[in-house]
Amino acid sequence: MTSEDKPMLITSALAQHQPDITLLHQQAFNSEAATIQQLLADFQQDNSAQPLMSLVALEGNQVVGNVVFSRARMTGHEAVTAMTLAPLGVLPRYQKQGVGSQLIKAGLEQLTAQGVALVFVFGDPAYYQRFGFQAAPRWELTAPYPIPAPYAEAWQVLALQPNVLGTIKGQVQCCAALSRVELWQVEE
Ligand SMILES: CC(C)(COP(=O)(O)OP(=O)(O)OC[C@H]1O[C@@H](n2cnc3c(N)ncnc32)[C@H](O)[C@@H]1OP(=O)(O)O)[C@@H](O)C(=O)NCCC(=O)NCCS
Repeated sequence: MTSEDKPMLITSALAQHQPDITLLHQQAFNSEAATIQQLLADFQQDNSAQPLMSLVALEGNQVVGNVVFSRARMTGHEAVTAMTLAPLGVLPRYQKQGVGSQLIKAGLEQLTAQGVALVFVFGDPAYYQRFGFQAAPRWELTAPYPIPAPYAEAWQVLALQPNVLGTIKGQVQCCAALSRVELWQVEE
């Protein structure tokens, strides 16, 4: 957040926020909106996503941003706690005002306090590296689905604990809701 950004109230999403969350992702994601709506619906039925953390940014009573973190697993390292960040969306008229950054930072703080070791994201490195995310392939942490070579570095990881990167390697399994192949396709 810069000095010009407006601090938002960041809080856990409640059932009453769901209609606003649906609308904001529709507006934020445009052509991918249907895929994201399906993902949000799938999370509700998905035990493998638990513990799911959904945070909202509120301006008054209005939800202007939402981020979801869901459980991931490391094949062969079942004791390692890992999460995947997806989706992240901010209402178009609230974008570039630090809302997305505040949601991510609040989420990472909570996950750190909970003892989570690794957080994964599939997204634009130019955005996520500002929070400390790094290309996961460099650490031999393989995405759940093959990612076309030009986008390999969009599969990213952030360690919330010391001595994890380089020690834990291998295949990452996302929750069932995030395992639909269309979520891993890149629009060219
Ligand atoms: C991506 C998104 C969540 C960022 O939220 P935001 O509240 O606008 O972000 P912030 O205000 O915290 O950060 C803004 C900065 O991120 C940059 N940024 C925003 N989206 C970006 C993107 N896709 N790639 C690279 N940089 C991006 C802005 O240019 C700005 O940079 P600056 O600080 O150098 O000016 C928001 O633009 C959005 O909802 N986009 C549509 C949905 C989407 O693409 N979600 C991410 C999926 S991985």
